[in-house]
Amino acid sequence: QSGYVTLDIGYKNTGATKSAITFLDGEKGILKYRGYSIEQLAENASFIEVAYLLIYGELPTEAQLTDFQYQVSRHTLVHEDMKKFFDGFPSKSHPMGQLSSLIGALAAFNPESLKQGLSTEEVNLEIMKLLAKMSTVVSWIYKKSLGHPVVYPQNKYDYVTNFLYMTFAERTEDYKVDRVVVDVMNKLLILHADHEQNCSTSTVRIVGSSDANLYASISAGISALWGPLHGGANQAVIEMLEKIKNDGGDTDKWIAKAKDKNDPFRLMGFGHRVYKNFDPRAKIIKKACDDILEKLGINDEVLEIAKKLEEVALKDPYFVERKLYPNVDFYSGIIYRALGFPTEMFTVLFALGRLPGWIAQWKEMKENKEPIGRPRQIYTGTTDREYRDIKDR
Ligand code: SDX
Repeated sequence: QSGYVTLDIGYKNTGATKSAITFLDGEKGILKYRGYSIEQLAENASFIEVAYLLIYGELPTEAQLTDFQYQVSRHTLVHEDMKKFFDGFPSKSHPMGQLSSLIGALAAFNPESLKQGLSTEEVNLEIMKLLAKMSTVVSWIYKKSLGHPVVYPQNKYDYVTNFLYMTFAERTEDYKVDRVVVDVMNKLLILHADHEQNCSTSTVRIVGSSDANLYASISAGISALWGPLHGGANQAVIEMLEKIKNDGGDTDKWIAKAKDKNDPFRLMGFGHRVYKNFDPRAKIIKKACDDILEKLGINDEVLEIAKKLEEVALKDPYFVERKLYPNVDFYSGIIYRALGFPTEMFTVLFALGRLPGWIAQWKEMKENKEPIGRPRQIYTGTTDREYRDIKDR
């Protein structure tokens, strides 16, 4: 091999870029967006406000936020021909597969986004369009899964209320905005909004580094997030909790399975590449779980199972030695379920939350004029061989 290659499979100790967007301290369990702690943002900000912060680097003034919200709301309609894709999807096809296809397809309906050397204004226009249209497309996926007609956006609503309206309004004239639901949805989306160079964000950056358009880059990020080791874990956690519940709720048995190297079962929603302490997001979501279930008068048996698993695992040497703690996905599904989302939609909701982070990271990579991502390898294949005619093989 020419030159010197350092091998770091899975990039466990490789810095791929310099970024000023999100700060993570895995040892202390600290997460900050543009210097603001997620605890303060989750408590005080709205999701669209945090999207502005991540993308433009500053908390918006009242005027900036009003204008940003208005600009985004002008692009919430999606080209009617996009509906044709749903005629092709099998009715039970996974929402993440639909979402990555539909977001990639948006490039076809926004050909100007394919232009090279877009100006700042042109990039901002594509960003507004994508933020707006992703929430509409996510609501379409849900409605189509029910066989219901889509509900068109009401731009009198703020971003999150509009999304909930498009998703859950049965009959438009009597939709009542439930502040409790809007507040917890804002909080959840904020907590998912960015997480430095995780698998899907690194995917968005590397696809964008080839000068691929924003829709293609985000579509690739959605595909990476789908995996159960990453965003797909929030669906896998609920499926795991349901399995344990149906198996009699014997948490000790399943903890033993998670520790058994011969058993492929993993405790989903536990462990993290960077956090070797509590995931700060999990702490906030766990508390929000109790609040929302109480406010909605829901008693979800799997929450007790989740809490029992956490309690047992945090005392078990296997988990303690490996510093395995609950991560963002461990409790989030319990809230999504309480809000009425089916399990298959959970990772799509993770993607909706992560969208501003992906956009911010893609924009930063462009502004920093980073080169195309192209890692090297250590070659372990065979040495030179001569071609042999098929009759001699
Ligand atoms: C997200 O990167 C991000 O920031 C991601 C994310 C974001 O916001 O973008 O935070 C979102 O993806 C959260 C993670 C969701 N995934 C899961 O909950 C799936 C279950 N967790 C794991 O598969 C695992 O912990 C990962 C994928 C999260 C991290 O994997 P690593 O860093 O590659 O660690 P590893 O697989 O090498 O595990 C180290 C050890 C191993 O044991 P030993 O070989 O040392 O004996 O810990 C064990 C693993 O077997 N282990 C687990 C475990 N997670 C790790 N054992 C049982 N159950 C688990 N969940």
